[in-house]
Amino acid sequence: MANKSVSEVYNTQVELVESGYEGHFKTASLDTWIVPSEHNGGLETLQKAAKLLKNSDIPVAFPTETVYGLGADATRSSAVKGIYKAKGRPSDNPLIIHISDLNMLRDLLSSTGNHSQESIPVIYGPLIERFWPGPLTILLPNPPNSKLAPEVTAGLQTFGARMPSSPLALSLIKLAGVPIAAPSANASTKPSPTTANHVLHDLKGRIELILDGGACDVGVESTVVDGLCHPPVVLRPGGVSTELIRECKGWEDVKIGYQDAPQNGESKPRAPGMKYKHYSPKAKVVLVEGEADATEEDAETFYRRVTNQVASNDHGKANVGIVATRHWDTWGGWNKCGWARVETSRKPSDSTNGLSLHENVQEGSIQACTDNGENLDIARILSISLGPDTKSVAHGLFSALRDLDELNVDVIYVEGIREIEGEGDIAAAVMNRLRKAATVVKTR
Ligand code: TXA
Ligand code: MG
Repeated sequence: MANKSVSEVYNTQVELVESGYEGHFKTASLDTWIVPSEHNGGLETLQKAAKLLKNSDIPVAFPTETVYGLGADATRSSAVKGIYKAKGRPSDNPLIIHISDLNMLRDLLSSTGNHSQESIPVIYGPLIERFWPGPLTILLPNPPNSKLAPEVTAGLQTFGARMPSSPLALSLIKLAGVPIAAPSANASTKPSPTTANHVLHDLKGRIELILDGGACDVGVESTVVDGLCHPPVVLRPGGVSTELIRECKGWEDVKIGYQDAPQNGESKPRAPGMKYKHYSPKAKVVLVEGEADATEEDAETFYRRVTNQVASNDHGKANVGIVATRHWDTWGGWNKCGWARVETSRKPSDSTNGLSLHENVQEGSIQACTDNGENLDIARILSISLGPDTKSVAHGLFSALRDLDELNVDVIYVEGIREIEGEGDIAAAVMNRLRKAATVVKTR
């Protein structure tokens, strides 16, 4: 029989691994992860998934504490190629290698399999001690005769390694017995998935198995650091803040090696489809940077955009999404301006494919008061409040963008957040993702 082609449809199964699935490290040194021997709500499912990872070339989706990953045996080229095939993207970006314990990592670093000498560069000692297992990826030298498939490193001399903190993920990797290459389990360019449903939405028919371990705790991907250069560099902001990394010995002078800063000035329209656009829902994203209450001026701007939308929209009324964080109230300032008001607030029920929506999504309609005293219905408004603290914003961000897409909004206004100094928060990671998703960035 011929190989299955990309268009071939698999019967995608979602299998639940009960929450509370546990395992433990043999000692505090993180050398060896121990998989629980008893069946406690998931072992059989994990064994089945591990077997697929070991033998099949179709990747398996699984939860980590950051986002869902699309995993494959990192030592087999055919398996790694399966990831790119399922995601529908070219293989030009190196993948992160997920390990269950330090012994698995040492195996990758030594060409001989001899662990008598510590092979993990000393610069990473303080980071591993403080942040592993957890949302941190470190770059390591890929040895000659590396066991890793060349597709994983995209031809680089280094590979990125991460020990996730999710016990489910650690046990899956351990049972597979091989390092697991895993990018986020979204279709190329879409927001990363933080629930099994998100993965199903994007990859249904393209893979066979999705392990469902509930919603991811952190909600944004791991921080990627390079300690092989001097001074060391943060390549991608993520679940561990630069502020906390800087507290570690040898990392005091860590530099920022990613670019996402907003340009100064007014609204900056960005052409859609440019190569840095990423994490993007279907709708246009307008990111409002700098924290402040939404004002009457914002409402005016919204109004102008909305009327433009209406003009170009065959359903005659714009659908506006709002993602509020620290200051905006639910309706993004509309209810505060003199000439418009928000009518009703209820939970929308019309998700297009029956997937569950964010608990906090509320629906209303915006009515403008015309000069002759009439109320004109100008837009449907769908609003999500993520709450004021950075953790809850990160946790709910990708989900909110996906939910608003499900509700077919034309445009999503997102209230940006600033880092709270001294808290080691991950606002930088949130804003990095939002700046990449945004079509327009408005700076105050
Ligand atoms: O939280 C995460 O890191 C998630 C979960 C699934 O673990 N994974 C993830 O993988 O976000 P991915 O493939 O979407 O992102 C990999 C990032 C990219 O920014 C890539 O450029 C960088 O890591 N990376 C990987 N290996 C690298 C290397 N050798 N040199 C430089 N950057 C590397
Ligand atoms: Mg990704």
